[in-house]
Amino acid sequence: MELFPQQASSFAPHVDALYGFLIAVTAFFSLLIGTLVVSFAIRYRRRSPGEIPPVVHESGLLELVWTVIPLGLVLIMFFWGAAVYFRITRPPTGAIEIYVTGKQWMWKIQHGDGHREMNELHVPVGQPVRLTMASEDVIHSFFVPAFRFKRDVVPGRFSIAWFEATKPGRYHLFCAEYCGTRHSGMIGWVYAMKPADYQAWLSGGAAGESLAAAGAKRFQEQACNTCHAEQAGARGPSLVGLFGKTVHLQGGQTVVADEAYLRESITNPQARLVEGYPPIMPTFQGLISEEGLLQLIAYIKSLSPSPAAGAAPPAPSTERKPAKP
Ligand code: CUA
Repeated sequence: MELFPQQASSFAPHVDALYGFLIAVTAFFSLLIGTLVVSFAIRYRRRSPGEIPPVVHESGLLELVWTVIPLGLVLIMFFWGAAVYFRITRPPTGAIEIYVTGKQWMWKIQHGDGHREMNELHVPVGQPVRLTMASEDVIHSFFVPAFRFKRDVVPGRFSIAWFEATKPGRYHLFCAEYCGTRHSGMIGWVYAMKPADYQAWLSGGAAGESLAAAGAKRFQEQACNTCHAEQAGARGPSLVGLFGKTVHLQGGQTVVADEAYLRESITNPQARLVEGYPPIMPTFQGLISEEGLLQLIAYIKSLSPSPAAGAAPPAPSTERKPAKP
């Protein structure tokens, strides 16, 4: 049995190096202090009932040394840890976009091209993968030990994280947050494939409609298009080219239109109103599943040409026109 899971992602070696450093520092000081406690207890024990120990005055130099050395060590841990943290939390641009929904007790995966998976995730090696994750019910946690990848998936918000697999293989996927009776069964596999094999996997099987196309359909179903039309004078702001842009809000503040803002604008539209528009949009909280929200957001993303939009092609423009009565 191996002590650590194998390293199969680009940041696994960095996480392990930091972890190794923490273990080494902890082991060194545990041994040092333990040894000193025992040896001093023996060496300076009271040898006779009347023994009076000599008076000891503190040494300024000694105080300085055992203050500065630990300070240096924890500062190394802090800056090293921060560097690894930033590496892990900042998805590179141009990553493959994959959408994950956790629910009791399964992982549902949606790829941009329409492929769907259950408790399985296929990814290519050597390419960053960005996960946008949501929960339909309670807190789950997406954990792939071989990738040193773990991120809580919390209801009511998106968790965004990324990884890059480095070694082809099959790796355990766990739910790492106790989420009810069948939490222990909420497991699966991540398949890291050579790029050619991944392409073959993508082209095999029925992909169905792309995520953005599914989102375009929901956009019609929920009648979003009656207000969010492209023409000037529409009741709601146009969504074309919105994703990634800075939005001016009522009250003079601004916000970048990312996944979190789009999600909030659908589930709680009054929270941050766009300047110049009245608060007339109803909330869609509870009317659209998390999977549906991800599809809508994929559709809105597809209206903004950008390298991060992934494989999802923009829907034909006829689908965005308002339905005239
Ligand atoms: Cu989901 Cu534990």
